[in-house]
Amino acid sequence: MTTDILVTGGTGTLGRPVVRRLQDAGRKVRVLSRRSREAGEGIEYVTGDLATGQGIEAAVDGAEIIVHCAGSNKGDEDKARNLVRAAARAGTRHLVYISVVGADRVPVVSGADRAMFGYFASKLAAERVVADSGLPWTTLRATQFHDLMLLVARQMTKLPVIPVPAGIRFQPVDAGEVADQLAELALGTPAGLAPDIAGPRVYTVPELLQSYLRASGQRRLMVPVPIPGKAARAVRAGAILAPGRAVGRRTWEDFLADRVLSRA
Ligand SMILES: NC(=O)c1ccc[n+]([C@@H]2O[C@H](COP(=O)([O-])OP(=O)(O)OC[C@H]3O[C@@H](n4cnc5c(N)ncnc54)[C@H](OP(=O)(O)O)[C@@H]3O)[C@@H](O)[C@H]2O)c1
Repeated sequence: MTTDILVTGGTGTLGRPVVRRLQDAGRKVRVLSRRSREAGEGIEYVTGDLATGQGIEAAVDGAEIIVHCAGSNKGDEDKARNLVRAAARAGTRHLVYISVVGADRVPVVSGADRAMFGYFASKLAAERVVADSGLPWTTLRATQFHDLMLLVARQMTKLPVIPVPAGIRFQPVDAGEVADQLAELALGTPAGLAPDIAGPRVYTVPELLQSYLRASGQRRLMVPVPIPGKAARAVRAGAILAPGRAVGRRTWEDFLADRVLSRA
């Protein structure tokens, strides 16, 4: 038990394994959550909301390192701003942020761009809040987690005929592997923008869906649908991929075998 580390989003898909990694490294971990929770498994919980700033001062108090994993579809810039304001006052000496591959390469200019890809603009804005915070920082950009792909696959395959965004590809990565990397970065010296982390293979959307359908014993028809806008064009050209950083080892098929096949 040495340093106090705050993990925002420590109850989420990425945050949970990050907390475990930090604990395994012998660190004392505090987790911020919007819901009040009993302390357990060596974790102290602090209740607060980054969207409003409520409870954040108490959450950052004494935390020398903050790993900022809290996030949602919208408003991550505001959450980062509220966190940074409190962290600067608390004298945090390392702020670690998780962003998304392509944050700087997906142009979000029109309403159509914003409707489908506004998330990338809000991650880029949050990255800038972190980089301009005056605090020592590290940001890691990751591709989509397998868990998110599974959620999307489950939603999409509820329809008998699936409209599939044409030409879009993903390079999903295992959240546990991202957690390994993020925890290691958090315990190291502030590194600025770290090398991206991406999964081992690139897939089209039909490939991702077909593997899911096979694993869950289903069949569906798919119809390609063109997506308008500059953001979609950039994504079709590979803006959210990092083939040169395919460092993840667990494939989508491995993940499905554990999470879907064994339960089908
Ligand atoms: N999922 C992906 O494919 C992916 C890819 C690249 C980067 N990322 C980034 O990785 C981070 C974690 O993603 P995830 O998939 O683990 O998310 P998740 O499972 O949806 O978890 C989100 C976490 O954020 C917390 N949170 C949300 N709004 C909050 C608020 N207003 N105040 C305080 N806490 C709040 C939630 O805590 P409570 O509900 O307990 O309050 C929860 O722990 C996000 O920043 C995301 O943008 C995700």
